Amino acid sequence: MRHTRYVIVGLSFLVVLWLPVASTRAQQAVIVAGKSEYHKSCAVCHGSDGKGRGAMATLLKVKPANLTRLSANHDGIFPFWDVYRIIDGRKEIGGHGSGDMPVWGTVFKQEAGADLGADLSAHARILEIVYYLESIQAAPRGKP
Ligand code: HEC
Repeated sequence: MRHTRYVIVGLSFLVVLWLPVASTRAQQAVIVAGKSEYHKSCAVCHGSDGKGRGAMATLLKVKPANLTRLSANHDGIFPFWDVYRIIDGRKEIGGHGSGDMPVWGTVFKQEAGADLGADLSAHARILEIVYYLESIQAAPRGKP
């Protein structure tokens, strides 16, 4: 019986140690998926480093934004849901309706087909991209 107690304590300890590892892995998987989505759909305009110098940038009337400065432009806080809504594009957003950026919510939904899951799939792809963008934000000025 004494051994059982040690085994339980030992196992609980392992679970506690493993949890942060598991959540870091999940986070990495989402960001990696977002990175590949970004390279497929966004890099042509915003550049592979997100700084707005993609191959198509010179052809556009309105220059693609530097996506590594989203936090810096918002007092150091990543504007998560604003970014989400800009990418989705299905809701009107003042200033972003120039027509130079595709409406990704509609594109992703069309790619997924017409069933109920299409909307969810589009939401998931947008979320992955937003998490990826959050991960590439430039450090605030004055910090390394
Ligand atoms: C055809 C070129 C093009 C593509 C492809 C494109 N964008 Fe853009 N994007 C723009 C332009 C141009 C702007 C700035 C002008 C505007 O506001 O409409 C912009 C603005 C943005 C902004 C707003 C930035 C700010 O400072 O407010 C975000 C966020 C953004 N794009 C994310 C993305 C993401 C994510 C993708 C890929 C899913 C993407 N864009 C694909 C052209 C593009």
